[in-house]
Amino acid sequence: MESLWPVLEALGVASADGVVKTLTLAVPLIATLWYWSNRSLFSVPWQTAHPSGYCERYDPRHYSEEVRGSELVVENGNALENVPSAEHDLAYPHRRFAPTIKSHAELLAASRAHYEMMNSRRSCRFFSTAPVPREVIDNIVLTAGTAPSGAHMQPWTFVVVSDPGVKRAIREAAEAEERTNYDSRMSEEWKRDLAPLGTDWQKPFLELAPYLIVVFKQTYGARPDGTRATHYYFEKSVGIATGMLIGAIHAAGLTTLTHTPTPMGFLSFILQRPPNEKPYLLLPVGYPAEAATVPDLKRKALSEIMTVV
Ligand SMILES: Cc1cc2nc3c(=O)[nH]c(=O)nc-3n(C[C@H](O)[C@H](O)[C@H](O)COP(=O)(O)O)c2cc1C
Repeated sequence: MESLWPVLEALGVASADGVVKTLTLAVPLIATLWYWSNRSLFSVPWQTAHPSGYCERYDPRHYSEEVRGSELVVENGNALENVPSAEHDLAYPHRRFAPTIKSHAELLAASRAHYEMMNSRRSCRFFSTAPVPREVIDNIVLTAGTAPSGAHMQPWTFVVVSDPGVKRAIREAAEAEERTNYDSRMSEEWKRDLAPLGTDWQKPFLELAPYLIVVFKQTYGARPDGTRATHYYFEKSVGIATGMLIGAIHAAGLTTLTHTPTPMGFLSFILQRPPNEKPYLLLPVGYPAEAATVPDLKRKALSEIMTVV
């Protein structure tokens, strides 16, 4: 410590007799601490200070692709909309996008009707064996295929199973995994949370439903020249596509169950999928059994799931 005095003296923060000029040290220290605890006040618009303290810095490398080729239409100093710029050089040739513009009343009616239709969706565990036209399943899968995906890689495969022998093999393997899950792999908390739903290891619907749709996520793909194609955000993309698949099944008038007989490696084996495809979800699809029941669940209110900033 002795050897520090000459340095502190030279810096002007200590007097010759070794008494630290407290204020000289304290002021910058307090200012630094104050700045650090209030640094969100100094953030610029692209630097988002989240209430949780999480701070995401804008990195132009992440965003330059999205904003490239776009210009703002400005009227009286106000930005009205952004439009493609003259020199945009994107790989796909672009075409006009002009969906029908609805009035506010039409928006309200359409959004309400869609909400009511989707709110009547339920996961059903009791299926009828009544047949369903294959074309309906084709349309449902086509709908899932309209989902957005990272860099438009479309990293999904939907395996539609109707063969009774394959359905039986899937049921047997799923029940074997589920029996182990219920016997030893699930925590007590998990079993307590599942109890109100009345589920167990038995999955007869896997044979009874006329179709099983097994969703596979493609963790990578192949380019036309045979090299490996990166699949960006494949987990999110497949999740969105599966949500759209479930919505399409319901909108068609059929029912399904989001089923996860984990681990699901048996699906890759039975369905002979390539190594870049990993099983994501298993969905039986068909009509509900005539005597089907569902747990009388309540969904969270808008105020519990939405916050407006
Ligand atoms: C990712 C995921 C996995 C699920 N896995 C199963 C499952 O393995 N077995 C099952 O009976 N239900 C499963 N479910 C269905 C949920 O239990 C059901 O969605 C939830 O109870 C809400 O009911 P609802 O779909 O009728 O609104 C799963 C749902 C999700 C989203």
